Amino acid sequence: MNRLKEVYRNDLPGRFNEMEMLDRHFSRILNVFNGNILPPYEILIHTSSICNLNCKWCIGGYVSSKENKDALLDNNLLKKENMVKIVNSIINYKKMGYDYKNNCNKEYKVENVTFSGITGEPLIAKDSILYAIDELSKHNIRVGIFTNGVLINKAMYETLLKLGYILISIDAGNSETYNKLKCNGNDTNNFDTILKNIEELSELKKEYDSNVDINVGYVINQYNYNQIYELAEKLKKIGVHYLRFKTDIASLLVMNDEQKNKASEQIKRIRKELCDDYFSVVEIHNVMNDREKIRKFSKCFVHYLIGNISADGRVYLCNYHPKKNGYNYGSAIEQDFSEI
Ligand SMILES: C[S@@+](CC[C@H](N)C(=O)[O-])C[C@H]1O[C@@H](n2cnc3c(N)ncnc32)[C@H](O)[C@@H]1O
Repeated sequence: MNRLKEVYRNDLPGRFNEMEMLDRHFSRILNVFNGNILPPYEILIHTSSICNLNCKWCIGGYVSSKENKDALLDNNLLKKENMVKIVNSIINYKKMGYDYKNNCNKEYKVENVTFSGITGEPLIAKDSILYAIDELSKHNIRVGIFTNGVLINKAMYETLLKLGYILISIDAGNSETYNKLKCNGNDTNNFDTILKNIEELSELKKEYDSNVDINVGYVINQYNYNQIYELAEKLKKIGVHYLRFKTDIASLLVMNDEQKNKASEQIKRIRKELCDDYFSVVEIHNVMNDREKIRKFSKCFVHYLIGNISADGRVYLCNYHPKKNGYNYGSAIEQDFSEI
């Protein structure tokens, strides 16, 4: 246990805490290590390989040329009928295993589904994703979504209120920086639209007593490091729960030491002046410590615990490995996910 404490993050709140995750899925992990392959506790689905924005640091540009359409995965999940097959196979995937905490047998199933993208924006596949959120949440699967939030509209609210969380990637403190970093410098209203969408969703959350956590993602870099506090003030007012910071894992827009210090000071100020029982900061990456991003392991087991289905419907090793003609385990449209 002491060795684990050295490598797992125990300082993060709620479900972001890695020790909490380990504890929650302790028995599932032991089953897997003992050779009993169980349903992963989570499945990550990329519904689209196309994006409506162009974030300068996007990890998607790193794994696949976003400019070259031939390099993008086929968009088979845009067809709702394909999503229906995948959703059914997730809901029906159940298997017996041992419960090491209560010393008895227990049925294991997929507990969470997250929609995100590696080169794409999940809400591009609007019909498929709204169907999937409705159906999965009806079966008590906790659903989350990573989105840039631009395509959210009023007709989606009823379904979005069924989510466990929505993480909206904003990555800028004002419209000018937003357009420069995410919209090829074009003059758009996206920044204000997103804040308005969040405010409306947050009002409805209260009205309908929804459990959705409305969270915001911010990748800190050399262009936006100085706008963190001003954004946090706005987000707190409109009902955001977690403001989640990362640094650029593709190391394209790295900060110098002075910029890192300024960013860190602002995060400290947010914690001191703005954080309360509801509004909270999550530092997935510590701005002052790039070394945290360096791997401390030689073998990864994440595919036993988190499955990844990408826009072509194929099952890949993890979030970061979907690639045209790349290694995959087969199509979850042609074959049942549990068989794969
Ligand atoms: C690739 S995006 C796709 C989903 C959606 N289009 C969005 O903007 O959230 C998924 C997540 O990856 C994060 N991301 C992308 N590139 C990154 C990078 N270089 N470093 C850290 N996080 C990155 C985004 O901030 C977002 O939270």
